[in-house]
Amino acid sequence: MRNYYIAGNWKMHKTVAESVALAKALVAELGSCGERVMIAPAFTALSAVSEAIKGSRIVLGAQNMGPETQGAHTGEVSPWMLKDLGVRAVILGHSERRHSYGESDALVNKKVLLALAEGLEPILCVGETLEEREAGRLEAVVGTQVREGLKGVRAEDLAAVTIAYEPVWAIGTGKTATPDDADAVHAYIRGVIAGLYGEAAAKAMCIQYGGSVKPENAAELMAKPNIDGALVGGASLKAENFGPIANFRS
Ligand code: PGA
Repeated sequence: MRNYYIAGNWKMHKTVAESVALAKALVAELGSCGERVMIAPAFTALSAVSEAIKGSRIVLGAQNMGPETQGAHTGEVSPWMLKDLGVRAVILGHSERRHSYGESDALVNKKVLLALAEGLEPILCVGETLEEREAGRLEAVVGTQVREGLKGVRAEDLAAVTIAYEPVWAIGTGKTATPDDADAVHAYIRGVIAGLYGEAAAKAMCIQYGGSVKPENAAELMAKPNIDGALVGGASLKAENFGPIANFRS
C-alpha cells in the first residue's frame, strides 16, 4: 500500500501559545494516523511545538531556510539552528517565497543542496501562475523549476526529497485543480524525474499536491495514481480540518 505524506504549512499565523495548542490537538487526533504527517509552524513557535509533539509520529518542519550555515546574514535562519530545534523537513521555493520575495530557481537550488548536505528533508515547491497556464507555459515553467531546483542533487539523495506541485492560482483561493488536472501535472513531473534519474527514481518520488486542499477533496485527490500526499495551507490551521485530511483513509 502507498504511504502518503501530508504536510501542514501554517505560514505567518499563530502565536506560540496558539501553535502549541494546535500541535497538542493534532497529537491527540493523529495518534493512530498511518500517513506521514509534518507540520511547519512559524520559526518563532518551532521550539515550543517541538516540545509539544515530542514522542509523537508528527514530523517537525520549517517553512523556509537561509542558504548558508552561519555568518553575517541578517534575518536568515540556518539549517543548523533548525536541526537544533528538532526540525527534520523544510519547505523550499514556496510560491510566496518566489513571487513575493523574489526567490530565484538558483537560490532555491542552493537551499535544496544545503538542506540535503545538512540531513534535512526538503520539500521543493513548484507551480505555475494562472497567466503562465493560460499562455500554455505550464510544462515549461514547472519543468524548469524541477530541473533547476534539483540541479546537482545526487541520485542517492533523491529519496530525501519531496516535490510539492502547487498551482499558484489554487493557493488560498478556494480553487482546487481538478484531481485529473493535478494528476496530469504530477505525471509530467514524474516524467521529468525519469529523464533526470531514471524510471525507478521517478516511481519512488513523493509528489504532493497543494492548493486549497480541504477535508472534502483530500480523498479524491489522494486517489489519483500520481498524487502521493498534500501540502496544506489554510486548512492546516485547525485540527478539525487538518485531522480529517491526514486521516482521509479512515
Ligand atoms: P492553501 O495553501 O491550502 O491555503 O491553498 C497551500 C500552500 O500554500 O502550501
